[in-house]
Amino acid sequence: MVTTARLHPDIRGYRSPDDQDKTFEIFQAAIRQTASQVYTPGQVDAWAGIGPRPADMSDWDSRRRRAFTLVAEVDDTVVGFADLLPDGLVDMLFVDPRAGGRGVARALLTSIKGEARARGIPELRTLASRSAQPAFERLGFTITAERPDNTVRGVVVPNAEMRCVL
Ligand SMILES: CC(C)(COP(=O)(O)OP(=O)(O)OC[C@H]1O[C@@H](n2cnc3c(N)ncnc32)[C@H](O)[C@@H]1OP(=O)(O)O)[C@@H](O)C(=O)NCCC(=O)NCCS
Repeated sequence: MVTTARLHPDIRGYRSPDDQDKTFEIFQAAIRQTASQVYTPGQVDAWAGIGPRPADMSDWDSRRRRAFTLVAEVDDTVVGFADLLPDGLVDMLFVDPRAGGRGVARALLTSIKGEARARGIPELRTLASRSAQPAFERLGFTITAERPDNTVRGVVVPNAEMRCVL
């Protein structure tokens, strides 16, 4: 039975390298299934990156490790992840489409905000996709600049800068 009941994920730190494959799969699925509702196939390919999963995942893994990356887990399965960079940028917020709309992003962002406050970061910033803007708004962010010309791999993929005062 498909259920839309609210999830209460456990939030924990990213583990290298165990979490690299699952977070990459979620990144791909969130763009190809969720964000594809608001972007064209060409924009989706540009953002997700055309082609197979890289044979060498060390670059993906090291970027997750360099940031403060949290994962959300339900029944020992990773269902989403988010990160925080030292300057307050939330660079990543991706949720498995099968767990979407059930509070996973809210749980991740609540923990990211807690970490940012503990570090004395006054404001969070993100470059939100059109898919994510309603969720970020609901989570306390406001649009500070539209970015209609944002380009990824040569393709225009409009997004918006959003900020949240802590
Ligand atoms: C954006 C994304 C991370 C949201 O994850 P999610 O787990 O489905 O979000 P949540 O269920 O925690 O929703 C958070 C809040 O936003 C609201 N919300 C989410 N999507 C919404 C929408 N499209 N319209 C209105 N409100 C929305 C929810 O109702 C919820 O509010 P509540 O907690 O007060 O009920 C997910 O859809 C995703 O991965 N999108 C594709 C990838 C992407 O664009 N990532 C961002 C990169 S910048």
